[in-house]
Amino acid sequence: MGALEVLVPSDAEPPAGHPASVVLVLGGAGFIGRHVVAALRARGLQVIVGSRRPHRRLRRHGFADLPGREAHLERLLDADDWRTLVEGCDVVVNCVGILRERGRETYDRVHHRAPAALAAACAARGLRLIHVSALGLEEPAHSRFLRSKHDGEAALRASGADWHIVRPSLLDGEGGFGARWIRRVARWPVHPLPPGASGRIAMLDVGDLGEAIANLALDAAPPVREHELGGLHVRTLGGHLAAIRALHAPAPARRLRIPDTLARLVAHVCDLFHVTPFSYGHWELLQRDNCPRENRLPALLGRAPRTIGVPAPAANATPEGFPIAPRTLS
Ligand SMILES: NC(=O)c1ccc[n+]([C@@H]2O[C@H](COP(=O)([O-])OP(=O)(O)OC[C@H]3O[C@@H](n4cnc5c(N)ncnc54)[C@H](OP(=O)(O)O)[C@@H]3O)[C@@H](O)[C@H]2O)c1
Repeated sequence: MGALEVLVPSDAEPPAGHPASVVLVLGGAGFIGRHVVAALRARGLQVIVGSRRPHRRLRRHGFADLPGREAHLERLLDADDWRTLVEGCDVVVNCVGILRERGRETYDRVHHRAPAALAAACAARGLRLIHVSALGLEEPAHSRFLRSKHDGEAALRASGADWHIVRPSLLDGEGGFGARWIRRVARWPVHPLPPGASGRIAMLDVGDLGEAIANLALDAAPPVREHELGGLHVRTLGGHLAAIRALHAPAPARRLRIPDTLARLVAHVCDLFHVTPFSYGHWELLQRDNCPRENRLPALLGRAPRTIGVPAPAANATPEGFPIAPRTLS
């Protein structure tokens, strides 16, 4: 446990009758977590950030005025281990995830056993738990990364807590490891693409995700517990790369077809050396659709999601407000 424990409310007032007043955001200094923290603060909620290194991470991301609590999920495997961490909170948002295992930080501990213990702790105290997961987990997977996330979801469902699972498609935004790579590769004059990467992706804006999760924390009675979220445009990875490139470069990139076996090999090499966000789990995900079955994002936002890879004048809402049905593009 650590850090500053003074709660600093923002100027905004949360709506009356909502279940949340103090929200613990685990992984609150990460890509998704930072946007959740900002959206919660903008709605007048008191936020505590959970991090392995709260002092350093809060300073780095401009949250130095927020209280932080030290949390190492690989050490929090029993409900009782969570007692002091969740103390004084009404809602816990779990934005923790690892791309690769390091020592005791295994997929099973971080994505499955710790969230299971957290859910038990929330159930015992009547706290709401919002868990950020991923799309595409229901199909059988070889990747232990994907299987651990699937098992984490199953543990939540069995917990008896006021649980909510949020499954975003791929995210775009400043500062994300994967998002940075996609933007970088999009600028290349050649896009290496395996034919197997044919799954459709509904890329969404990470700021929209933060707002959607904050609204879910405030919703007294959400109509469903599982929230699949995506942006307005559904494209393959190649289509997204082309759309993002078109924002910056007049000429389209040349598509270089690489064999699926080579893509799979590259994914394993990246996992072995902990380089790039391309992992074996992501190779599996690219081969299946990564789109919400029912997109809950417009309902959670109360507006149309931001568009990705569309020039500003053509962007976003119709006068009626909601171009909700996703459009499938190249
Ligand atoms: N990015 C996407 O496009 C995307 C899309 C769908 C789903 N997701 C899922 O969303 C989750 C978060 O993704 P992200 O992009 O925000 O990742 P991220 O930027 O890497 O953030 C993850 C956070 O988890 C925390 N963390 C890692 N290991 C931990 C541990 N052992 N104990 C406690 N905290 C730990 C880290 O916080 P500290 O370093 O401060 O400890 C880190 O900031 C992941 O599960 C990911 O699979 C992401």
